[in-house]
Amino acid sequence: MTAPPASHLQLAVCDYPEHVPQDRWQDYARRQKALGLSHIRIAEFAWALMEPAEGQYEWAWLDQAVKAIAAAGLKVVLCTPTATPPAWLVRQHPEILPYDREGRIRDFGSRRHYDFASPVFREHSRRITRALAERYGHHEAVAGWQTDNEFGCHDTSRSWGGASAAAFPGWLEARYGTLAALNEAWGNVFWSMDYQSWDQIRPPRALVTEVNPSHLLDFYRFASDTVASFQAEQVAILRELSPDRFITHNFMIFDSGFDHYDVARGLDFASWDNYPTGMLEFFSGWGSDELKTRYARTGHPDFIAFQHDLYRGLLKTPGATPGFWVMEQQCGQVNWAPYNPLPADGAVQLWTAQAWAHGADVVSYFRWRAATMSQEVMHSGLLRHDETPDRGHAEVAALDLHQFPAGEVQAKVALLHDYESLWLYDVQKHAASLSYWAQTVSYYAALRGLGQDIDIVHPDADLSAYALIVAPALTVMTPERAAHLEAAAQHARLIFGPRSAYRTASGRTPEDGQPGVLAGLLGSKLLNFDSLRPGLSVRVEGPDHACDVNTWAESYRLNGAEAVYRYVDGPQQGQAAVIRHGNVTVIGAHSEELIHRVLVGELTGAGLKPERLPEGVRLSRRAGQTLVQNWNAEAVNYGAQSLAPVSFEVTHD
Ligand code: GAL
Repeated sequence: MTAPPASHLQLAVCDYPEHVPQDRWQDYARRQKALGLSHIRIAEFAWALMEPAEGQYEWAWLDQAVKAIAAAGLKVVLCTPTATPPAWLVRQHPEILPYDREGRIRDFGSRRHYDFASPVFREHSRRITRALAERYGHHEAVAGWQTDNEFGCHDTSRSWGGASAAAFPGWLEARYGTLAALNEAWGNVFWSMDYQSWDQIRPPRALVTEVNPSHLLDFYRFASDTVASFQAEQVAILRELSPDRFITHNFMIFDSGFDHYDVARGLDFASWDNYPTGMLEFFSGWGSDELKTRYARTGHPDFIAFQHDLYRGLLKTPGATPGFWVMEQQCGQVNWAPYNPLPADGAVQLWTAQAWAHGADVVSYFRWRAATMSQEVMHSGLLRHDETPDRGHAEVAALDLHQFPAGEVQAKVALLHDYESLWLYDVQKHAASLSYWAQTVSYYAALRGLGQDIDIVHPDADLSAYALIVAPALTVMTPERAAHLEAAAQHARLIFGPRSAYRTASGRTPEDGQPGVLAGLLGSKLLNFDSLRPGLSVRVEGPDHACDVNTWAESYRLNGAEAVYRYVDGPQQGQAAVIRHGNVTVIGAHSEELIHRVLVGELTGAGLKPERLPEGVRLSRRAGQTLVQNWNAEAVNYGAQSLAPVSFEVTHD
């Protein structure tokens, strides 16, 4: 395959020269080039080799590795190696280690064993970043940088003791100024939780019973700010010493550990790591067993698409659409889920095509050769352990990249997502089987099942480009946000899901009840909410449709809005379940069928032509092309087309 110009999707791979003898490097680079790859990402876990003792740098091996890649005509993505602090550093400075929620130290012996707040670790992070950037910052083969690796992986965004515990009170003092303000914001009068001095405050762990959500919210905000400032230090050094190179970070699947919008700020574009089968098995707690079996060999199209749309949008502003990379793309079986099936034939190509259609500029496979040592020997690569091409390699070799031109994704539907709402929702779920992600992804999947392209955007971002704005679980509301949404309702239709505007910015409820400052826009007040255990349901009825509701049911006192659906049984019988007020609709009951019905009506009203797609068939549009995807293990008829199992076609609009 010949590599296409950069006006098309490009391919890359993650490689680990330090895992193989040096005599393999040139051969690997030659084979990578022959496969049509453009970039090789290296060195994110190689700190101990770069600096085997404090201040003693060993660059000869990395010089040779970069040279071999460059000699083959490939570009390098170099990483700061801070995800793996070496043993000498940890044993000399055990205070850099993080603490888990039970208050135990998380020790050396795997990875990500550091506390973002540790001043000592910060100093060493800046030092190794500076040394690396001084050495390679101007190297002509170095195209750009990845900071660290997957912040938050293995639940490491927050350290519940040590350096973070020491820094948390100072962060609170800077935010609140006085203890009286903090005690008021957190509602500490409840259970006599008032503080009399800053140094009494700890991360909220190992408590007798439930945590105060406001305390937890601020601890999460603190941890998130700490991740952001940690990265910002590396970014500043890389900008100084490596001009004209991009800087990115590889974010994770459905990670909730920090505010991704904040942490992305300062990067040139976001990247993320796409492991579709592992994601379905491991991360999507809300997926049924039936769903997991059905999509076991491909992953679920909407869960993957959600991540693409999220990361495409992290840095989007009205004037700039920076695109994104898939920095690690599964290309065979993974090793970390409870079950790790081989991907279906065609899955690697389908994943690659889907990434392109959602706006990816580069898809970088993980990894070149399967690891022959240590934690990940059960994981695949493009090459098997014995260096022969594996199944994914054959699929990559057969890809025609010319069908994937660069260009914009132009969505008319926005889905609002923010991390503070997520944190507050999940700390008091109230219905065990419904989480922020479950509720949010239900709306997203319903929209995709209706053939829509979607931007995932922060609720405070520019909303002027959208005809329909969907806020599935916008729990946190402020007066500014309410005014912003009121302005958006002048030109677009808005849909809110349950629990909208339940909380103020400090995590309390509005004193005048929910939805507080949003009451004017919604034309209603919350009346009651009902948490439904499995097996318990209530029924709602609208003008020409009725269905059962599971998990969650809330009702409203109308103050200008009209009831579209009402409960016809249960404790809220006769009360409004779905309401409409001008351009705004609120769906207070959780049911996939109900969400689907209301979305069909609102999309039609917004002129967006909903099209009910067959199960497992999806459409994604970019640059005037439509990617028609079949994620089913069986062939499917779609219009005049017969779609082969696990396949795609690119059609011109
Ligand atoms: C990612 C990680 C990689 C590798 C991979 C295995 O989360 O960034 O280093 O561990 O998982 O699937």
